[in-house]
Amino acid sequence: MKSFLSLAVVAAIFFSCSTPQEPAPVENQAVRIHDTAWNTPGSPQFHGTVLAGKNYDSADCRQCHGNDYDGGLVQISCRSCHASYPHPQTWAGQGQGSHAVFLQTEGYPLGSCTGCHGADYSAEKQNTSCLSCHVQEKGPEACNTCHGQFDADASDLRNAAPPAGIAGERDTETRAVGAHQAHLALVDSTSAASMCSECHDVPATLNSPGHIDGDGRAEVVFDGWLATTASADGQLMPQGEYDDQTGSCSNTYCHGNWQLNKATATLSFIYAADSIAGANATPVWTDPASAACGTCHALPPAGHNPAETTACVTCHAATVDAAGEIIDTQKHVNGKINALAQESDMR
Ligand code: HEC
Ligand code: HEC
Ligand code: HEC
Ligand code: HEC
Ligand code: HEC
Ligand code: HEC
Ligand code: HEC
Ligand code: HEC
Repeated sequence: MKSFLSLAVVAAIFFSCSTPQEPAPVENQAVRIHDTAWNTPGSPQFHGTVLAGKNYDSADCRQCHGNDYDGGLVQISCRSCHASYPHPQTWAGQGQGSHAVFLQTEGYPLGSCTGCHGADYSAEKQNTSCLSCHVQEKGPEACNTCHGQFDADASDLRNAAPPAGIAGERDTETRAVGAHQAHLALVDSTSAASMCSECHDVPATLNSPGHIDGDGRAEVVFDGWLATTASADGQLMPQGEYDDQTGSCSNTYCHGNWQLNKATATLSFIYAADSIAGANATPVWTDPASAACGTCHALPPAGHNPAETTACVTCHAATVDAAGEIIDTQKHVNGKINALAQESDMR
């Protein structure tokens, strides 16, 4: 009940700020200051139209509606109907008082801008539309407007990944940034979208369900094909999990939740036990050391005949070199067994 009430309060505040409303009826029409159509959009006497005709010079309104338009003598605030208008002087800039910080703080109410700036953000106000600065294909709704690299090409989804995070984070030690770039370095632009979807439900548009859901925090879900690759003759089906308290993930195929059984192996000579298995690691998103070589599987993995790291190349030449370095990220952690010049599915 309590949470329902607070939701209702939040909803009431949200709607009162974002939806233009009729003011309380004025009792005595004799003292009415404005034209009766002053609040009727579409009418030539509508206050917005009148102000547009004056190049949006609203200085006169301050006499009665307050110096900062917050109510003044008549106790009617412009912002009771349009929360962000009149805009402050600092609105088009960056940092405090900018539209970017306002939107971020209020949970991105872009719908409150479209009434005046047009459904596609193209309406010109004093010769400027949103699209004059937001030049990407979807304008302010481009995928790298609020996170990622603001000035980069929005059609490459990699540019929507942090840094920067929602609040401008750039440091890989912040959970917003973490190991994004380390993961994305493993793929090319054509597979970037599927890379995001290894760890997130990727929204098709800004308003897709589950995208901006009010907690200001990304949801991490592992339902991509790679993180869930099955092994152990279909008996091991990874159910990856992200712990948003510790920032660690567990049980993903990628970090070693896999097993191969000798009984169904053709190349069974390499087995030192009934099975060869990964180490099922729990890497921490903000700690590169937690995903070092040897954490996802031992060198070689448990159950595999012993070998020096410099010798892996003898049988796994597609993946490693004689120094034990990974040489092809399309062959390593690709959901396939690469051994003795063959590539086969995990089984
Ligand atoms: C009773 C609600 C209400 C109040 C109070 C109000 N407005 Fe508006 N105003 C609207 C509505 C509705 C629109 C139409 C656009 C929209 O839907 O957001 C609008 C539009 C405008 C526009 C038109 C901009 C354009 O796109 O051409 C201007 C300018 C404007 N208002 C200025 C003011 C100022 C200045 C005040 C305070 C002195 C004020 N308004 C108070 C409801 C209100
Ligand atoms: C002389 C005082 C005064 C000035 C100047 C003034 N207003 Fe008002 N305004 C009022 C009063 C009083 C009301 C309450 C309704 C009424 O009396 O018309 C009001 C109400 C409004 C409303 C609510 C809609 C409605 O019809 O009730 C809007 C919108 C509004 N004013 C916009 C403006 C804008 C925009 C300007 C400047 C162009 C402006 N006002 C200048 C006194 C003023
Ligand atoms: C009530 C109408 C109205 C609403 C609602 C509104 N704007 Fe505006 N906006 C204007 C007008 C009119 C201008 C032209 C300059 C002025 O009057 O401030 C403008 C100018 C701007 C500018 C400055 C352009 C420049 O080159 O200086 C930006 C940025 C902007 N608006 C962003 C927004 C954002 C973001 C929102 C939603 C949070 C929003 N506006 C909501 C009417 C509105
Ligand atoms: C005068 C140029 C200009 C105009 C016009 C403009 N913007 Fe922006 N906007 C920017 C800049 C620059 C940034 C990046 C600010 C930063 O990174 O601090 C930005 C950032 C944003 C952001 C990202 C906020 C975040 O979380 O970082 C949104 C959303 C946005 N603008 C929406 C709009 C909308 C909607 C309009 C039109 C109603 C608009 N902008 C008009 C320049 C502009
Ligand atoms: C290997 C897993 C992984 C991949 C791949 C991945 N992310 Fe993330 N992402 C995360 C984690 C973990 C977080 C932090 C969640 C938290 O604890 O708040 C995160 C957070 C985010 C955030 C929120 C940042 C903030 O400020 O809080 C955005 C936006 C995001 N990711 C976008 C993307 C995009 C776009 C891609 C693909 C280009 C992508 N991610 C790929 C794991 C991943
Ligand atoms: C207006 C700002 C804004 C724009 C534009 C935007 N995002 Fe986001 N995005 C966010 C915020 C805020 C979050 C943090 C999640 C939350 O609030 O729950 C987020 C989170 C994400 C995440 C992490 C998973 C999740 O949903 O929590 C991904 C992936 C993502 N966005 C992709 C995209 C894509 C793809 C687009 C373009 C279609 C896009 N974003 C456009 C603000 C934006
Ligand atoms: C003498 C050849 C040989 C050497 C040397 C060797 N392996 Fe293997 N390894 C194999 C074969 C054959 C398989 C395939 C088993 C199967 O298909 O069931 C295998 C399987 C694996 C697997 C699991 C399946 C896969 O391909 O992902 C890993 C991981 C692995 N080896 C890592 C290593 C590492 C690390 C080294 C060096 C420290 C190494 N191996 C040295 C022959 C070798
Ligand atoms: C992020 C986890 C992770 C790390 C770190 C990692 N591996 Fe692997 N490795 C795997 C997975 C998962 C496989 C299983 C086969 C596949 O999907 O490619 C694998 C397979 C292998 C194989 C077998 C050949 C193949 O690709 O099938 C070799 C050899 C190997 N790794 C060597 C290394 C070496 C050497 C390092 C350190 C330089 C290393 N690995 C670090 C996850 C990891």
